[in-house]
Amino acid sequence: METTIKPLKKKAWFLPLILSLLTSSILIIFSLFFTSSSNPFHQSTLKSKTHQNPVFVESKLYISPTKPASSVPKLAYLISGSSGDVESLKRTLKALYHPLNQYVVHLDLESPAEERLALVDFVNNEAVFQEVGNVRVVTRSNLVTYRGPTMVTNTLHAAAILLKEGGDWDWFINLSASDYPLVTQDDLLHTFSTVPRDLNFIEHTSDIGWKEYQRAKPVIIDPGLYSLKKSDVFWVSQKRSVPTAYKLFTGSAWMMLSRPFIEYCLWGWDNLPRIVLMYYANFLSSPEGYFHTVICNAEEFKNTTVNHDLHFISWDNPPKQHPHFLSIDDYERMVESHAPFARKFGEDKELLDKIDLQLLGREPDGFVTSNWFDRSDTNKTIAESIVKNATQLKPGPGAERIKTLIGGMLSDKDFHAKHCI
Ligand SMILES: *[C@@H]1O[C@H](CO)[C@@H](O)[C@H](O)[C@H]1NC(C)=O
Ligand SMILES: *[C@@H]1O[C@H](CO)[C@@H](O)[C@H](O)[C@H]1NC(C)=O
Ligand SMILES: *[C@@H]1O[C@H](CO)[C@@H](O)[C@H](O)[C@H]1NC(C)=O
Ligand SMILES: *[C@@H]1O[C@H](CO)[C@@H](O)[C@H](O)[C@H]1NC(C)=O
Repeated sequence: METTIKPLKKKAWFLPLILSLLTSSILIIFSLFFTSSSNPFHQSTLKSKTHQNPVFVESKLYISPTKPASSVPKLAYLISGSSGDVESLKRTLKALYHPLNQYVVHLDLESPAEERLALVDFVNNEAVFQEVGNVRVVTRSNLVTYRGPTMVTNTLHAAAILLKEGGDWDWFINLSASDYPLVTQDDLLHTFSTVPRDLNFIEHTSDIGWKEYQRAKPVIIDPGLYSLKKSDVFWVSQKRSVPTAYKLFTGSAWMMLSRPFIEYCLWGWDNLPRIVLMYYANFLSSPEGYFHTVICNAEEFKNTTVNHDLHFISWDNPPKQHPHFLSIDDYERMVESHAPFARKFGEDKELLDKIDLQLLGREPDGFVTSNWFDRSDTNKTIAESIVKNATQLKPGPGAERIKTLIGGMLSDKDFHAKHCI
């Protein structure tokens, strides 16, 4: 009995098995060939990949191609402040305004609700901002601790908002309400239209010196990470050793970062930006080290660094924790520094008025004079006065100053030898 049944059974399942194996392998071969060539996304990511771009695990992730130098760039600004900063923040925003740029303004949670509302009202009631739609107020404010990691997370938060909603900007610039421009946006956009878009202006050094003992080894906790109330960072009694997995860099907390680098920090296809962020969570004055350490330890970005923070900052000698407030006596040195931004401005309105009058051509409370805003015909509404094609720039003497500064750095014969040293 058994011997007759067995061969019968074998035949019953053998043929279907062979058939299904055949059809499935045909299907697999078919899908392999056709999906790889008909999927446009797959192809475009392959094509846009140059030798120095990182390899992505996720096909959805790719670095934005940088636009050719020569077109007018777009800048994305974060301007942040705290309690009592609303008036200076408004003034800085107006002095920096240009319809081609993108702006995020943030007042931290320490500032009273009335101040934050006043800022929202100001942005909503300014006809130009409403018409162009490029100014955003962070309505879910962050608690930001001076010297703490919440300063870095706030900067990353604003950069994320700008990546999501800000369109195709080229550089991200982080400012505070006590910063002020020394050149017009037309000057900046004009000069930067010939600068390679992948460059990152970040003042940095690996010579951490006294900071090894006073910054890298102590462990701090920032209450802003978990508390609703603002209070200063506190120290843990143990010390930690200096990292060996990557090298620490330090420098100025003011910078202008390229879009590809911001995408690298935020999207995180590489683990480095996350690991370093967690390390800096317990580091005193993390804004003076986080981006510096990430960029200088990322092989594909370290050659894009330019060692300057684009600011005129007047430190005491020897430097204290805070730079000193600028006064009218600093004016000449400030202009001769050729820097596009300066800090820190306090209550001294005389100095700001002088900058408005002599460097920016800005009327009290108005916008910087430029081609994009034509108020000569007073019968026109605000919307009609905004010139649609804002790429027609009107560079002034400020453009020459920045050109001298940037040109000098980029044409330095040691420029390529001096990244991240
Ligand atoms: C960004 O801007 C703030 C000013 O609001 C500054 O204190 C901070 O150190 C800056 N840098 C970074 C990397 O967050
Ligand atoms: C960066 O520059 C160095 C020195 O010029 C060079 O050896 C290295 O290959 C460059 N790295 C990249 C990713 O281009
Ligand atoms: C503005 O309108 C008034 C009244 O319609 C007219 O007389 C005047 O010429 C106009 N001004 C300009 C600059 O067009
Ligand atoms: C805007 O102006 C620029 C410079 O004058 C010109 O090259 C460009 O074609 C203009 N664009 C439009 C849409 O008119």
